[in-house]
Amino acid sequence: MPTVQFAGQSVECLQGSNLRMVLVRARLPLYNDAARALNCRGRGRCGTCTVRIEGPVSEPTEAERARLKLPPDGEDRGLRLACQCTVLGDITVTKLGGFFGRREEPDKA
Ligand code: FES
Repeated sequence: MPTVQFAGQSVECLQGSNLRMVLVRARLPLYNDAARALNCRGRGRCGTCTVRIEGPVSEPTEAERARLKLPPDGEDRGLRLACQCTVLGDITVTKLGGFFGRREEPDKA
């Protein structure tokens, strides 16, 4: 079973699991600030589930590519939308700061 490392915690999941669902079910802080309530619930539209991933996950979907081209950054920084990623092996996930999770400095707890 793949292991997902996030915020100093470790969660096991089935290979092929949706990353957003793994993190939400484990009650890990995928969303920052008001995005906890104001998100599209995994439709690939809001962009607030943005994360940095090290390790094997699925290729970006069309919805993901389209959303990540939009503001706030619109450039390819190698970030991913957790709701569009399938876990394919052991991964480490980092949530950046800001509403969309795209600011390099993490939010203060
Ligand atoms: S939850 Fe909205 S884009 Fe992922």
